[in-house]
Amino acid sequence: MTWTTTVLTLFPEMFPGPLVHSLAGRALKEDIWSLKTIDMRDFAKDKHQTVDDTCFGGGAGMVLRADIVDAALEQASASYEDKPAIIYLTPRGRPLCQSLVNSLVQDHPTGCILLCGRYEGVDDRVIEKWREERDLIEVSIGDYILSGGEIAALTLMDACVRLLPGVVGKQESLESESFELDLLEFPQYTKPRNWQGKVVPEILLSGDHKKIAAWRNNQAEKVTQERRPDLWRTHLNKHPSDQR
Ligand code: 6GU
Repeated sequence: MTWTTTVLTLFPEMFPGPLVHSLAGRALKEDIWSLKTIDMRDFAKDKHQTVDDTCFGGGAGMVLRADIVDAALEQASASYEDKPAIIYLTPRGRPLCQSLVNSLVQDHPTGCILLCGRYEGVDDRVIEKWREERDLIEVSIGDYILSGGEIAALTLMDACVRLLPGVVGKQESLESESFELDLLEFPQYTKPRNWQGKVVPEILLSGDHKKIAAWRNNQAEKVTQERRPDLWRTHLNKHPSDQR
């Protein structure tokens, strides 16, 4: 079965963009996943192809019309056999994290519909309708403002696609099943051993796999404490024995 993502956007030419390359690109060729775009402008009814309008209450910027977005969502969802995840990409959404990505892929094996906002946003009534009737969720990729949801949609797709069976090598994929970013990665090194006077930590050349694993774990904990005290607290709650 092909995991299908349908993107509702005013800029369909932005897709699949970078996802034709690397792992996601190979998986796309292999039909492990597929991508459809729906140009919301196709649902405009007037000759000027109007999809947005000024917002009630005043203020700068334009708002995507509820009727346009509703028609596009109807068309998108009609092409799924089973309930896809329906996601509105907006900085007002819940922050994207690995556990959300995992559950999206697990709970919606047919794929997802991604609604990309532009301008000042989307008429909230259509969001409310699809939340009430079809469990639409709003998702943000972080606390900064992008000019539209398209790059957020590409980010979410990449995170989902690498979890699909056959996309990432077996060993790695097993790790990713339970992986919920709670420790940052330990540092990695390759040849040469001495580069501009900086030498690779001796222990990594020792061949002692137990000691190497312990060193790496120690490094991961150290870098997490230093850079991401928020992640470290979460990690400690899950693994109280790691208290240092
Ligand atoms: Cl999902 N959309 C926009 N426009 N900006 C964002 C975002 C989404 N997530 C973070 N910033």
